[in-house]
Amino acid sequence: MTVHLPTDLPGCVLRPWRAADKEDLIREANNRRVWRNMTHTFPHPYTDRDADLWLAIAADPGASIQLAIDVDGSAVGGIGVIAGEGIFAQTAQFGYWLGESHWGRGIASAAASALAQRIGTERLFARLEAQVFEWNPASMRVLEKAGFEREAVLRCAASKDGCLIDTVLYARVFGRSQAGAD
Ligand SMILES: CC(C)(COP(=O)(O)OP(=O)(O)OC[C@H]1O[C@@H](n2cnc3c(N)ncnc32)[C@H](O)[C@@H]1OP(=O)(O)O)[C@@H](O)C(=O)NCCC(=O)NCCS
Repeated sequence: MTVHLPTDLPGCVLRPWRAADKEDLIREANNRRVWRNMTHTFPHPYTDRDADLWLAIAADPGASIQLAIDVDGSAVGGIGVIAGEGIFAQTAQFGYWLGESHWGRGIASAAASALAQRIGTERLFARLEAQVFEWNPASMRVLEKAGFEREAVLRCAASKDGCLIDTVLYARVFGRSQAGAD
């Protein structure tokens, strides 16, 4: 999906990553407090090479979607979905992050709502899922505001930062399209 997606927050849009974002990406992503809430695919420290790898992935995401969260012309974070495979092709893993200096201004809520809404309207996936670490209530709130429901607590499901932790499974379900109804 190559889109420029507006959000309800003035100055905040979702748009494709571009090579010129590299400096912004490293500055915003190279933060332990961001890393601590992400899966193992998000590195720390976040190096020049990591940024190159990410920009290459984002330029060719296949069935997945990867967008920059742009505020007033600068990339301040990322949001996207990773498409499932095989029998899970209609399910996508929903994820996002924001540079710490931008937290607490409603940006992630606006971004998550806009992307989930668009995916639902276009029926790009039947189900969006996110697993949130037990210590991340702000992200749980972001998902709730974007129409996700809390489905389960997955006990001791993840190892992060030296701790074995529960994750909370959230999902937003758009349901079956005509073709998939039987
Ligand atoms: C989680 C994260 C995306 C939130 O971004 P943000 O732009 O600051 O979030 P928003 O301002 O849109 O909304 C945060 C909501 O959580 C609430 N919140 C914040 N801290 C909270 C806490 N400790 N307990 C409960 N709610 C909290 C805020 O009040 C707000 O809700 P409200 O609008 O109803 O008041 C951001 O902190 C981040 O990138 N963290 C690191 C990476 C990450 O966690 N990614 C998600 C992985 S699942």
